[in-house]
Amino acid sequence: MSQPDGPSKTLDNLLTESRTFPPPAEFAASANATSEMYDRAAADREGFWADQAEHLHWDTKWEQVLDWSDAPFAKWFVGGKLNVAYNCVDRHVDDGNGDRVAIHWEGEPGDSREITYAELQREVSRTANALASLGVGAGDRVAIYLPMLPEAVFSMLACARLGALHSVVFGGFSSEALRARINDAEAKVVITCDGQYRRGKAAPLKANVDEAVQHTPSVEHVLVVKRTATDVQWNERDKWWHDVVEPQSDQHTPEVFDSEHPLFILYTSGTTGSPKGILHTSGGYLTQAAYTHRNVFDLKPESDVYWCTADIGWVTGHTYIVYGPLANGSSQVIYEGTPNSPHEGRHWEIVQKYGVTLYYTAPTTIRTFMKWGAEIPAKYDLSSLRVLGSVGEPINPEAWIWYRDNIGGGKAPIVDTWWQTETGAIMISPLPGVTATKPGSAQVALPGISAKVVDETGEDVGPGGGGLLVLDKPWPAMLRGIWGDDQRFKDTYWSKFADLGYYFAGDGAKYDEDGDVWLLGRVDDVMNVSGHRISTTEVESALVSHPTVAEAAVVGASDPTTGQGIVAFVILRGNAADGSGGEAALKALRDHVSHEIGPIAKPRQIMVVQELPKTRSGKIMRRLLRDVAENREVGDVSTLADSSVMDLISKGLNKSS
Ligand code: WTA
Repeated sequence: MSQPDGPSKTLDNLLTESRTFPPPAEFAASANATSEMYDRAAADREGFWADQAEHLHWDTKWEQVLDWSDAPFAKWFVGGKLNVAYNCVDRHVDDGNGDRVAIHWEGEPGDSREITYAELQREVSRTANALASLGVGAGDRVAIYLPMLPEAVFSMLACARLGALHSVVFGGFSSEALRARINDAEAKVVITCDGQYRRGKAAPLKANVDEAVQHTPSVEHVLVVKRTATDVQWNERDKWWHDVVEPQSDQHTPEVFDSEHPLFILYTSGTTGSPKGILHTSGGYLTQAAYTHRNVFDLKPESDVYWCTADIGWVTGHTYIVYGPLANGSSQVIYEGTPNSPHEGRHWEIVQKYGVTLYYTAPTTIRTFMKWGAEIPAKYDLSSLRVLGSVGEPINPEAWIWYRDNIGGGKAPIVDTWWQTETGAIMISPLPGVTATKPGSAQVALPGISAKVVDETGEDVGPGGGGLLVLDKPWPAMLRGIWGDDQRFKDTYWSKFADLGYYFAGDGAKYDEDGDVWLLGRVDDVMNVSGHRISTTEVESALVSHPTVAEAAVVGASDPTTGQGIVAFVILRGNAADGSGGEAALKALRDHVSHEIGPIAKPRQIMVVQELPKTRSGKIMRRLLRDVAENREVGDVSTLADSSVMDLISKGLNKSS
């Protein structure tokens, strides 16, 4: 089959990479994961997962590991009962580890807070009592629109404790995006703060909520954490966190819930305009979150200091800041701010300060560090680091090697972890201490997970072949649906290989000659900008909602730092077209997209064109636009309704540049 059209340039060199790095012998000798785990899981998958589930505290044990009779709706650990928050917090106190630090919280301005498991238990209990006093109970939805504050973790765990579903909305999303998510989930309460510190400045946050909740009939209360002491407008539904939460009792008895009780909704971009509310449930999700965190990062809870730099608004923050690490009783760093505040060595200063041993970040961040220069990390003592993780997009071999040499002291194993919001937890990754790693490849499915690269008919392409990534067997942390839309769930993930029952991930991939998997980027209309999923249609609809725009087409063009950058081609409306393309007009369009979706969706570049390349059936040929955006010679135009369009676009652009 043809090469999937993901980010292309990095991939060419990615596929010629052949170095391997065997695990250091000492590391292998004491690693949590062993190569026998692959055999055990292959021989008895369900038995293997049952063993992993035994690491949690169940109030009632399950009767059946997996019920797949109503596929693609899975039930894991059927009949089992547990409380997810009890597992992440109270259990460690009951086990005598109440004094262990759960969270080393580091504020951007330099303030910090140390939260032990005993204190976490008190904070989560207070928050749960507060939410209950506001009428939140099992099955209700709570929207959380907070930056990286301890209260974000307390809120998520308080929801889990009460059996309410949280829907965390990334603080970088606009009020419009927030409103759409609140309404889709019909959230009863919104938790936010006055403002957030970003790059040394306090930026208002609550104002976005004020705007959003003007059109959200379900919202009864807005709970506001005071962080920056920014002036805020005060509305009838608003309540200060310190007034409502602090006076509460720090005792709360968790109720137990069914293994399949819903835990959270997290919205992610799909190929169509409206974001999908990915639904995750309790027992299976927590089992795989804890299992992967323990084995992929080789976590030793007594001695490790773990740090995942993701934002809590993304799935990585859910699974690898909140649920996995806390279920395993980890001590972890949570950092509020940006990597260059107040200086470009901030991450390394934090690693040195807390003696961080396990560090998990995204390729885009690594490439940014590369740009800032190796002399910056060299000023700090990073010798505590023993495992480095990567997630969010394919990591190019140069970045991988730079990461290993300059951050990992030339020896820390790198785990390149492939997974998705939908998979809930890591699926494909090396195991440190077991796998000889290869720069640029996520390599093999974890024990208990099954993945394949197949052609359009679902046939495994075999070593050396390329095609589409599928997950051919159900897994415990798999999404249980799209909130309120079972049909869309089936259509999006299960219809492409319906006869085979495969989950279609939307990623292109290939095997090398050893059978290791290399991810090649999305094959659908989803862009990956700095590891954030943004759909081309979402940005297109934002653009055409501006009065000057008649039509828009958006592509993700490869970008040396962010993986992909958003490039938009717009046709302006008649009267706007004359004075078109002026800097001010283009800036207004960029700002408009930012207002509609959020700053992360701002196009890197907007090109004004007279026509867009379309097939006879009217489908925009993004492949050709990507050629233009990436300054390549334009590819095959034979399926265009009017093949002169590309000449026109190229000429027009030459003229304007
Ligand atoms: C991409 C993030 C290559 C992929 C956890 C996937 C990756 C999408 C990797 C999911 C990786 C994530 N190598 N590509 N290690 N990790 N991706 O839902 O395209 O925000 O489908 O979940 O990111 O993004 P999401």
